[in-house]
Amino acid sequence: MTQDELKTLVGQAALQYVAAGSIIGVGTGSTVDKFIDALAASGIQIKGAVSSSVRSTERMKALGITVFEAAEVESLGVYIDGADEIDHGGHMIKGGGAALTREKIVADLAEQFICIADASKLVDVLGQFPLPVEVIPMAAAQIARRFAALGASATLRAGVVTDNSCHILDVRGLQIKDAKAFESDVNQWPGVVTVGVFARNRASVCLLGTAEGVKTLKFD
Ligand code: 5RP
Repeated sequence: MTQDELKTLVGQAALQYVAAGSIIGVGTGSTVDKFIDALAASGIQIKGAVSSSVRSTERMKALGITVFEAAEVESLGVYIDGADEIDHGGHMIKGGGAALTREKIVADLAEQFICIADASKLVDVLGQFPLPVEVIPMAAAQIARRFAALGASATLRAGVVTDNSCHILDVRGLQIKDAKAFESDVNQWPGVVTVGVFARNRASVCLLGTAEGVKTLKFD
């Protein structure tokens, strides 16, 4: 199966976590696009969704799915999103699509984070994928120097302005073994809006698309 077919498979599999009449949280990316398409085709009648990006909002609205503002909702049962990497503890790197801040906000509303990913995303140690960090533009150079002091290399993602009018640094050369501590530490640096490590609020479940079918990894 191709990577695209594996994404379709897990997008479809995520429907089992969607309760009729509920409001769900929806992430961003090509895997989530497959989920949105599967949801629209499924006939499951949900009340609506809270979206993590302009991209997902537009796709859902075009398919007739009602989109709520995060401020209109106090809690969500599930948040469904992809990942750039996920380790065997459910910690993730996210933000390849530059939507990490809103993704973290919507994920935080939800009781369960359901990660949908093809098998290439499962890693032993986070950091092979360049870590996205959303930053206030005036702090970008200063934050890049802090990563350099850790032996990593941060580059500004050219031409990208996030939905929050900020910039993205992509950081190479990290090996993130204690994801929770790393997330807390980098979050304290002045000018960091969001670090793309999702550890404090990690996945509860990962639906992993493999050549043998969908594997369900549970982390609680
Ligand atoms: C967007 C994300 C995505 O979930 C991540 O980049 C995975 O994307 P894809 O499903 O296209 O592989 O974090 O900010």
